Amino acid sequence: MMKTDLCIINNNYEAYDGKAVTVGGWVRSARDLGSFGFIDLNDGTTFKGLQIICDDNLVGYDTAIKLNAGSSILCQGTIVLTPGNKQPYELKATKIEILNATDETYPIQKKRHTPEFLRDNAVLRSRTNIFNAVFRIRNTCAFAIHEFFQKENFMYVNTPIITSADCEGGSDVFRVTTHKFYDKKYMETATPENDFFGKNVFLTPTGQLEAEAFALAFSKVYTFGPTFRSENSNTTRHASEFWMIEPEMAFCDLKGDMEVMEKMIKYIINSVFSKNMTELEFLDQFVEKGLIDKLRNVVNHDFAHCTYTEAIDILKKHNDKFEYKVEWGCDLQSEHERYLSEQIFKKPVFVTDYPKDIKAFYMRMNEDGKTVAACDLLAPGIGEIIGGSQREERYDVLLQKIKDFGLKEEDYRWYLDLRRFGSVVHSGYGLGFDRILMYVTGMTNIRDVQFCPRTPRNCNF
Ligand code: 4AD
Ligand code: MG
Repeated sequence: MMKTDLCIINNNYEAYDGKAVTVGGWVRSARDLGSFGFIDLNDGTTFKGLQIICDDNLVGYDTAIKLNAGSSILCQGTIVLTPGNKQPYELKATKIEILNATDETYPIQKKRHTPEFLRDNAVLRSRTNIFNAVFRIRNTCAFAIHEFFQKENFMYVNTPIITSADCEGGSDVFRVTTHKFYDKKYMETATPENDFFGKNVFLTPTGQLEAEAFALAFSKVYTFGPTFRSENSNTTRHASEFWMIEPEMAFCDLKGDMEVMEKMIKYIINSVFSKNMTELEFLDQFVEKGLIDKLRNVVNHDFAHCTYTEAIDILKKHNDKFEYKVEWGCDLQSEHERYLSEQIFKKPVFVTDYPKDIKAFYMRMNEDGKTVAACDLLAPGIGEIIGGSQREERYDVLLQKIKDFGLKEEDYRWYLDLRRFGSVVHSGYGLGFDRILMYVTGMTNIRDVQFCPRTPRNCNF
């Protein structure tokens, strides 16, 4: 058995005029109008569903037309063009086979559900228009990212998920262990040395350090994979498991790094424009008014740039508006990041040259001895979507930073060695995939752009 995907018909419906097809999918709604009725069907292959028209002389009409939302059916019929109607074609059913009929307990009904309700029904929410739109765009963005880097001669590498390098230097990580924490007696003799890997290992919070090693062999590489952070921040933009894209480029400084970031973001958005206009129109109407104009502005204008020091000078003038008052040396909070991108620059902005003490050890020290060649890309409505930097390529400076940060030199031996064996200027960045999706879809909670969101105290299936 092979049904015809609704996207195939939708993309070329005029050619299907009068053709017999078999389609399968899930009922969105069914309406009995007496001598005939409609079934609104969706199979997930296209945002737009298919309207099936059923005559009351169809075998099993009475049962089919009373189907609840969520029921699965196979339907044979003929495509008929309906010019001038809301949908330009429909399927005239000749046979309907009910595969699995839902009852009234099916949670997703044809009405607007709250995001909380949908999160509680995380599996079935994929059948709503909103998730159909979001995940279709997620697919486009993932593909566009690979396409962008492949066209730019980057090599895709898979960095390890289990790692012994706590790369962000103190960022919260999940331990990976086979020790039996539920067995008190066993735990009396448990040590990192007699654990599975003979030392402490973690779920990776970033693939950057390994990507650096690859970049110093292949020049331009990128990772695209899951990353994990156990920070206990219950915000709308933090997840415990999220996907990150981490390009790393040899012979590239911070300026070149930012050029790639901007080009990549524009490439992603343009891909969504060319493949998902229907979805964007839906999201513009129901999720973020003005979404399409916002994205058009992003692709048509240069991103803004300012240094951290300039940003602090600007923000200080508005300190009365912030919960956390700013001064030079402080970490920028989300309220500051958003104020800069939303109120001051009104577009994505690169903030560069942060104080060395609030950024990771591997970032390259600037001439002033106080700041590092780092940059964050801040986007209106979200805040940070990219964090990147030029890497410290000088052996002695890096070694001193490792010591200053209280890290163990032996843990970073291989990383230091890269600075002894053919070190070059190199840079990279991390794009939070779920965050760029929030930006492109207008969704305001990271839990609503992930299939199975993992957040503190929440890992449901
Ligand atoms: O700024 P971060 O921590 O940078 C790094 O991990 C570097 N190693 C990247 C690199 O230079 N290769 O994280 C990068 C991006 C952030 O800008 C943000 O978009 C996203 O990852 N991110 C998160 N997204 C969702 N949930 C979280 N808990 C996130 N933490 C970071
Ligand atoms: Mg960051």
